[in-house]
Amino acid sequence: MTGRPFVVAIDGPAASGKGTLARRLADHLGCPHLDTGLLYRAVARTMLDQGLELTDARAAAAAAASLSPDDLDPSRLRGGDMGEAASVVSVLEPVRDALLAFQRRFAAQPGGAVLDGRDIGTVVCPDAAVKLYVTASPEERARRRFREVAAAGERTSYEAVLDDIRRRDERDAGRAAAPMRAAPDARHLDTTELDAEAAFSAARDLVDAARARRPG
Ligand code: CDP
Repeated sequence: MTGRPFVVAIDGPAASGKGTLARRLADHLGCPHLDTGLLYRAVARTMLDQGLELTDARAAAAAAASLSPDDLDPSRLRGGDMGEAASVVSVLEPVRDALLAFQRRFAAQPGGAVLDGRDIGTVVCPDAAVKLYVTASPEERARRRFREVAAAGERTSYEAVLDDIRRRDERDAGRAAAPMRAAPDARHLDTTELDAEAAFSAARDLVDAARARRPG
């Protein structure tokens, strides 16, 4: 292998399909995957477990700085309310700063890596070999997320999920610190009309083309 590790940066709004895509691309490339949303969810979880206000920047930054792999167990972090709580703590710049070094170390592994989140192509890995910005209509994302949470036994409605998605999109895109947005050199992938297989196939072609262009 020559030069820099091959990094794939995947960003996009809630339930756009970026997580599934990121996992499958990491399998395809034989490299590790980091779902960076779990880091923000874990900070929120720690705050709530300790009875702290999610807006307490100092405590949240301390929680972010002391996260351990045990805190990243998805089963405690996946609920819809945790997505909302993660979005609230992720507005805080000290929290983002505290999580940056970990994400960059992950991306620097010699065998390359796939990271997904909101600011991977813009802030965490601006030099990534491939950047994807994955979207879908809010209604389609709400349908997917509703199916997912209902299957997991959570009691909610499609309307409540759509509201949550809209509120989160607005907060994530509107914040001052590392807002959710596509990097200028990101490829856009709208999955509204694509199933997981078709989305993967389109993304895999982009990744394979980028690998083929690499020197050496
Ligand atoms: O799975 P879903 O797309 O619903 O959410 P997630 O990726 O787990 O992220 C949860 C929340 O964490 C997002 O709504 C963002 O506010 C925040 N987040 C972020 O700010 N930056 C990232 N790189 C990843 C997540």
